[in-house]
Amino acid sequence: MGADIINGTHWNIERDEADIAWLHLDMADSKVNLLKGAVIDELDGILDKFSDNMPNAVVILSDKKNSFVFGADIQEFTTLENSEQAQAFLDRGHKLMNKLAALPCPTVSMVHGICLGGGTELSLACKYIVASDDKATRIGLPEIKLGIHPGYGGTARSIERCGPLAAMDIMLTGRALPSRTAKKIGLVDEIVPLRQLKHAARCYAMTAPKRKGTGFVKRLLNHSLLRPVIASQMRKQVSRKAKKEHYPAPYSLIDLWQKHAGNLKRMLEEEAKAVAALAITETARNLVRVFFLQEEMKSKGKQTSYKPKHVHVIGGGIMGGDIASWCAIQGYNVSVQDQSPERLAATYKRAQASFKKKYKRDRRAIVAASDRLMMDHKGVGVSQADLVIEAIFEDAEVKRSLYQEIEPRMKDDAILATNTSSIKLEDLSSSLKKPGRLVGLHFFNPVAMMPLVEIIRGNETDETVMQQASAFARDIGKLPLPVKSSPGFLVNRILMPYLLEAVTMVGEGIPPEVIDKAATDFGMPMGPIELADTVGLDICKNVAHILAQALNTPLPENLEAMVGSGKLGKKSGAGFYNYKKGKPVKNKNAHYGKPQEVQDRLVMRLLNEATACLREGIVESDEMIDAGVIFGTGFAPFRGGPINYIRTEGSAELGKKMHELEKSFGKRFTPDAAWEGL
Ligand code: NAI
Repeated sequence: MGADIINGTHWNIERDEADIAWLHLDMADSKVNLLKGAVIDELDGILDKFSDNMPNAVVILSDKKNSFVFGADIQEFTTLENSEQAQAFLDRGHKLMNKLAALPCPTVSMVHGICLGGGTELSLACKYIVASDDKATRIGLPEIKLGIHPGYGGTARSIERCGPLAAMDIMLTGRALPSRTAKKIGLVDEIVPLRQLKHAARCYAMTAPKRKGTGFVKRLLNHSLLRPVIASQMRKQVSRKAKKEHYPAPYSLIDLWQKHAGNLKRMLEEEAKAVAALAITETARNLVRVFFLQEEMKSKGKQTSYKPKHVHVIGGGIMGGDIASWCAIQGYNVSVQDQSPERLAATYKRAQASFKKKYKRDRRAIVAASDRLMMDHKGVGVSQADLVIEAIFEDAEVKRSLYQEIEPRMKDDAILATNTSSIKLEDLSSSLKKPGRLVGLHFFNPVAMMPLVEIIRGNETDETVMQQASAFARDIGKLPLPVKSSPGFLVNRILMPYLLEAVTMVGEGIPPEVIDKAATDFGMPMGPIELADTVGLDICKNVAHILAQALNTPLPENLEAMVGSGKLGKKSGAGFYNYKKGKPVKNKNAHYGKPQEVQDRLVMRLLNEATACLREGIVESDEMIDAGVIFGTGFAPFRGGPINYIRTEGSAELGKKMHELEKSFGKRFTPDAAWEGL
C-alpha cells in the first residue's frame, strides 16, 4: 500500500491505490485508544470531508499494540452533572455513529485485541466487522458494569446483528467474548489469523459481500407480540442477581428493547435518552467510582518488575491448596508442602478439579498446569523458592517454629509470606533473623473467586518486600491492598462486628432468615448468618475471639455454644441453618416486626468499624477502605463503599440513627470519634 497519508492528532488517514481509506486510530499521549470526545470529533470531521471526495471504502483499525478501543473515556463520564449534559455527551457519539453508518461506501471495522464499549459500538456502526482469532481479541459491551447500558447506538445495532437473545445476553452480563464466540453469535462477520487480518479487511472493503440476514427465528423473537413475554423472562432472570432499585440499568435496557425494537431510528433516540437518565444516577456514579478504585489498586506494585520464578506453599489445606493451584493456573511453577501425605493427596485432587473447571476440555492446558504444580511432602521447594507462602494452622507458636526451621534453608533474597487471617506480623517475626522479609499475603476464601489480597505490613517489613508482594498479587490477577498489621487487618475487622451483631440478634430470637434478608435488601451479596455458616463457625469464632480481645467486643454466647456442640455451619451440615445438598433450608414464613431496625443494627456496626479503621490509618486512604470492603466482602458496590455511603447519606443523619441504637443496645453503637469529621 503506498499513497497519501494525512496525520491528524488521533487519527491518521491512509488512502491506498484502490482508494480505500484506512483510518488508523492512535490516540495521542495514551497507551490505549479511548473513544473520548476529541477522538470522536476528529473522526466526525474526517467523515465530513469525505463527502467531497468519497473513497471506495473505509476501514477502521487501531495502531496500538494488541488493543483496538477500550471504550469511552470514563473520566469524561464523571464530569456529567445533569441529564442535559449527559444527553449532549451521548448525542455527540450518536451523531458520529449515524454518520458512519450512513456512508454510501462499504465500511469495515478491523478488530484485533481488546474492543469494548464505545469500540464495539463504533464497529457496529460499520457495515462489516472482521476480527483476528488471536487470544488477545475480546469483544464486548460492558457498560452495565458502570450502571448504564450502551449509549452510542450499541443496543439497537447489536440486536439488529445478533438477534435479541444473544445481544441482550452480552449487554446484560457485560462479558467480553473471544472472537470465536463473537463470530458464532453473528457479532463479527469473519475471524482470521492476525497475519491475514488486513487482507480480510481489504477483501470485504473491495467486494462488499451481501451480509447474512438475521434469520427468521431471530426476527420472530424481536416481534412486538413476543417481546413482552421474553422481556418478562429477562426481568425475572435479572431480578435474581440485581434489584431494580439498586441497579436500574438492566431494567432500563429491557424496557428499551421491549418498547422500541423494530424501529431502529426510534430505538437509537430512546437509547440516548435512557442512558442520559442512567448516567447521573447515584448507582452509576458509585459504580464508576468503584471502577477507578479498582484501577488504583491495580497500580499498586507497578513500581517493581518483581516476578518470582518458583513459589513454595506450606500447608496444603483449604487455603494453601487453593493458593497453589491458583498460582499454577497463573503460569507459576509451584511446589506445595504439607506435613500430612493424605492431605497432599486431597490437595492434588482438588487442584485437578480446579484445572478442569478452568480449562474445561483443553487437555493440553490441564496437563501444562499440572506439570507446574508439584506435591512436595518433604519441603524440598523451600530452598529453591523465591517466594514461600505459609498457610498452616492459625497458631502463632506453630507458625513461629516452622519459620525457625525453614529460614536457614531459604534463599537469601526470598520472601516469606504468611496467609494468617488474624495474627499480627510482629507476633510471628520474633523468631526470624530477617524479619524485614516477612509480609502478609492474606487471600480470601474461596481463593479463585475473591479478587482481593491484603498485603500486610508488619512494623519491620521492608518497603521493597511490600512492593514485591503487591506486584506478585497483581501478577496473579488479584487486587493488592496494603494494610497495617493490626488485629483482623482491614476486611475481617470491619466484617466481624456486623457478623457478631447478626449472631447476637439470633440469640435474641430474631429469625436468621429475617436478618439475612435485611442485609441482602441493603445490597449485600449474601446475608451475614449464611455467610458465617459458609465460612465455618469455628473459623468465625477464632477470628472473633482475637478481635474480641483487641477491640473489646464480647463474643456472643450462642456462637461458642454452637461450635461446642459441633455445629460448624455448612461444612458440618448444620449451623444456624440446616443444610440439604449444600443449600441452607430457610423458613419462607419467618417474620419479625422491625426489619428496618435489624438492617440498621447490621449496617451501623459495619460503618462504625470502617470509621475506626479510617481514624487508625489501617490503610492509606478512605478510598482504600471502600475498595477493601467492596472487593473483600462484596459490600453493595452501587453504594460505593462504607465511607462513601456515610458521606452520601450524611454523617449527621446516620449519626442520629446511631444514637438511637445506642440508647436501646448500648455502647457498641456509640459513633466513633472520627464519625463527625466525615
Ligand atoms: P487448614 O486446616 O485447612 O490447612 C492447614 C494445613 O496446614 C493442613 O493441611 C495441615 O496439615 C498443614 N500444616 C499444619 N502445620 C504444618 C507444618 N508445620 N508443616 C506443613 N504443613 C502443616 O487451614 P486453612 O483454612 O487452609 O488455613 C490456613 C491459614 O490460612 C491459616 O493461617 C488461616 O488463618 C488462614 N486463612 C484461612 C481462611 C479460611 O477461610 N479458611 C481465609 C484466609 C486465611
